[in-house]
Amino acid sequence: MADKKVALTTLGCKVNQYESEALEELFRRRGYTVVDFDEPADVYIINTCTVTHLGDRKSRQLIRRAGRTNPGALVVVTGCYAQTAPDEVLEVEGVDVVVGSGNRANIVDLVEKAVKGCKVNAVLDITQCREFEELPGEARQGRVRAFLKIQEGCENFCSYCIIPYARGPLRSRPPESVLAGVRDLVERGFREIVLTGIHTGAYGRERDDGTNLVRLLEKLARVPGLARLRLSSVEPNDITPELLELMASGAPFCRHLHIPLQSGDDSILKKMKRRYNTDFYRKLLEQVREKIPNAGVTTDIMVGFPGEREEHFRNTCAFAGEMRFSGLHVFKYSPRRGTPAAKYPEQVAPGVKDERSRELIAIGRELARSFASRYLDKTVEVLVEQAVASEKGNLYEGLTDNYVRVFFPGRPEWRGKLVDITITGLSDAGLEGIII
Ligand code: 5AD
Ligand code: SF4
Repeated sequence: MADKKVALTTLGCKVNQYESEALEELFRRRGYTVVDFDEPADVYIINTCTVTHLGDRKSRQLIRRAGRTNPGALVVVTGCYAQTAPDEVLEVEGVDVVVGSGNRANIVDLVEKAVKGCKVNAVLDITQCREFEELPGEARQGRVRAFLKIQEGCENFCSYCIIPYARGPLRSRPPESVLAGVRDLVERGFREIVLTGIHTGAYGRERDDGTNLVRLLEKLARVPGLARLRLSSVEPNDITPELLELMASGAPFCRHLHIPLQSGDDSILKKMKRRYNTDFYRKLLEQVREKIPNAGVTTDIMVGFPGEREEHFRNTCAFAGEMRFSGLHVFKYSPRRGTPAAKYPEQVAPGVKDERSRELIAIGRELARSFASRYLDKTVEVLVEQAVASEKGNLYEGLTDNYVRVFFPGRPEWRGKLVDITITGLSDAGLEGIII
């Protein structure tokens, strides 16, 4: 069949984005052309998220949209929502194939065997998956930063979280494979690599052969031509003194950590089944900042967890301020079927969640400004990404290694280069500056 077209859309986290790009590559290798999701295609793939009920809802909307764009096309639903609620997904009008978060290396075969109208449930029992599933590396050309997935699964079972059910047990990509992936990306011109996973800090834990994140990072840091190496989320309990020492050793390591806090109240942390309290977290950030001066520390915080009263929320606001985060991701707690917290008493009203979320987002904005403002009139090193349209004309944007976004007048040939920018101003989007 000539000229087959596939269109993908992705919800959720960086891991999902990474996997969608891998799926695109699998289809390309089998002769498909990848087109935009709102264009006519033969196959539509919706890569879903289920971390909150909004993920489920948006997933269903996108499934229906695909059916409308081309009613004859095959509609394939994959990802976390598909994994945790395959029957619910199969019932959505127009769905033909449901593939969860495993068994995706075979997705093209599954699709080619499927017949429009004959619903196929290809979701695996994820609790039985013990191997990291290798998918092709990030394939798009011409960008500066690339994500690389090194780990799958989570076994923490925090009381609110559906991710362990959606992603299954811990599986680490073999170190040689990660190293080959990094080399490949560097050869293709990527300058910054962001290592991602579902529980990245647990890298190697299930392998019993001494593999861990620090050993891996030591190897990756020696790849010639790699300008920057960044870690995505790392749980507070997984940040060891060795990790901090390694990160303090300078390039290619970025002075940036994303350390999920979830709540700044000890009684709520306990109900969440988090494995630390605020005291532990405070001491951890003291160590981070002692070892890595000017480190950017970003975090996730949830509002409206069951039993969160005004006083608990106040503790979270105060603690976020005290921790001087350089950025906050705020989530409104969403009860997830099958998780213990969904049945906890004292569920918080939606209006209260909205209000708390607004307030915390405003606090986060101020904290980000305050962190960025330390660079006013100073010079920072920026990895140049792409041009963006702004009120001040075409500016280029890039990140500092400690994760502050910087806008400046640039040139196309600076893309992928590290440049020194003198900071002249500050906005909600980040810093503004000029090249010296
Ligand atoms: N409701 C809202 N947010 C959640 N997260 C995880 N589970 C839920 C839930 N049930 C958030 C956490 C986590 C981030 C990836 O998603 O803050 O760090
Ligand atoms: Fe969404 Fe979590 Fe799955 Fe990522 S791992 S897609 S955030 S449910």
